[in-house]
Amino acid sequence: MSSMSENTFGSSPSPGLTKRTYAVKVFAFAAAFTALAATAAMTGSAHVAAQAAAGPAPASMEFYNTRVKPIFQANCYRCHGGINRRGGFAMDTQAGMAQGGHDGAVIKPGHPEQSLLIALIRHEGPANDPMPMPPKGKISDADIATVTAWVKAGAVMPKD
Ligand code: HEC
Repeated sequence: MSSMSENTFGSSPSPGLTKRTYAVKVFAFAAAFTALAATAAMTGSAHVAAQAAAGPAPASMEFYNTRVKPIFQANCYRCHGGINRRGGFAMDTQAGMAQGGHDGAVIKPGHPEQSLLIALIRHEGPANDPMPMPPKGKISDADIATVTAWVKAGAVMPKD
């Protein structure tokens, strides 16, 4: 493929970011997540259960292809797909999704509460570096529930 996309793959860490600042950010996010877990348990899981009952299982490739990918395509790919790798993060390939961005892995399969990507789309992550995703606006609660169910079920997606 083109050398341009290889060059822009940028997996080097951003200069200002140390492991320590990241640890602090992850900790802050975990605390925020815990605080909101009770609400999520009441609203989120009922929603997720209803959705799962109505369509493909969250651990299936079909779930990713028909439910999750369209959300990413509509809201994320213009900055994290193709040659766009903002924050060093490419979401449209399995390798890119697994690698994460400048802060390292952003998904922990099976554990949405420990996944930076989920914190960012819930707008419960750091205020900046990285900021909430997408940077402007917020995807719907139903879409957040779909992506959360997908991560919880193992973040299954096709091999590149
Ligand atoms: C308008 C452009 C834009 C859109 C749209 C966008 N992002 Fe981002 N994203 C960025 C930028 C810029 C960064 C780097 C931010 C930073 O490091 O401060 C980033 C960083 C991230 C990171 C953190 C990477 C890391 O390792 O720090 C994740 C996860 C992420 N985005 C997920 C998403 C998801 C999921 C969506 C869609 C729901 C999305 N983004 C939509 C621009 C965008």
